[in-house]
Amino acid sequence: MKKLLLHLDTDPVASAFDQAVAYDAGVDNVISYGGATRDNVTAHVHGMIFTRGGKNLKNSAIFIGGSNVPASELVGKAVKKAFFGPVRVSVMLDPNGSNTTAAAIARKVLTNYDITDKKVVIIGSGPVGQRTALYLLKEGAAEVVLTSRSLERTKVITENMKETYGVDVTPGETRSDEAVQALLKDAHVAIASGPAGVCVVPKSAWQASDTLEVIADVNAVPPMGVEGIEVMDDNTEKSGVRFNGAIAIGNFKMKVHRGAVASLFDSNDQFLDETTIYDIACKIDNE
Ligand SMILES: NC(=O)c1ccc[n+]([C@@H]2O[C@H](COP(=O)([O-])OP(=O)(O)OC[C@H]3O[C@@H](n4cnc5c(N)ncnc54)[C@H](OP(=O)(O)O)[C@@H]3O)[C@@H](O)[C@H]2O)c1
Repeated sequence: MKKLLLHLDTDPVASAFDQAVAYDAGVDNVISYGGATRDNVTAHVHGMIFTRGGKNLKNSAIFIGGSNVPASELVGKAVKKAFFGPVRVSVMLDPNGSNTTAAAIARKVLTNYDITDKKVVIIGSGPVGQRTALYLLKEGAAEVVLTSRSLERTKVITENMKETYGVDVTPGETRSDEAVQALLKDAHVAIASGPAGVCVVPKSAWQASDTLEVIADVNAVPPMGVEGIEVMDDNTEKSGVRFNGAIAIGNFKMKVHRGAVASLFDSNDQFLDETTIYDIACKIDNE
């Protein structure tokens, strides 16, 4: 029986990237819709759950994407609501690649590295930064500081994370190179997850730290998020610090994305989101 993936994207036009990855993950046919909202997806979900019965249901699955992460999460809730008990299919939620990218950052940082009792500073508190904070705290980091250019905005984010996941993330503000340098002074891990094409960690800031051991950056658009990093750095040691650049992280992200899509077809009852995609990344990393 053919593997069918219903692709619901909250952007007006469904992502070509997510469709290409689905085919590379072994899906036979991707049924893509852009403009998905929590109010218009029920009929599409019914189209998937009412066409194949019993054990054949596992050959249908749903992927939810889109650049607006909160809107995609609402679509995820609407999809769940449209299921009837066991009459359901597996779902993967990865808006803007946030879950798979953060999982890849965390796995790269943790390569032969014990993060217990370490201080992590994440510069950029969008969905990628937030999920990376969650995963590294789960792995035992002593403290994770998450920053943006506004302490007020970061406080709202960290309060939401406490409410949603029960984790304590320290809010921070990095409006200047000096502020980044001060935060990195006693940090062990620095992660740049700011906007594409913006350098958020100057060389002076990481070079002034005597404690830094690992630096990662997910921005692949020049200038890099970390001055001095190369996109292909893959646990590359320079000046006593291990660097992971955006392409090295992106390559592993692609593996996680493909692996997660492929695993949707193992059963009809999975919901892969920010809390479960990391487990898949760990499994792939340990293979
Ligand atoms: N390599 C890959 O495979 C891959 C995949 C997906 C995403 N990405 C990259 O991952 C990065 C993060 O993605 P995202 O979706 O989380 O992005 P996002 O939602 O745009 O978040 C960026 C964050 O950076 C903060 N920021 C902006 N300028 C800053 C500055 N100068 N200093 C400190 N913080 C600053 C923003 O907050 P304020 O505006 O409040 O300051 C915001 O919290 C992007 O560069 C994206 O391109 C890479």
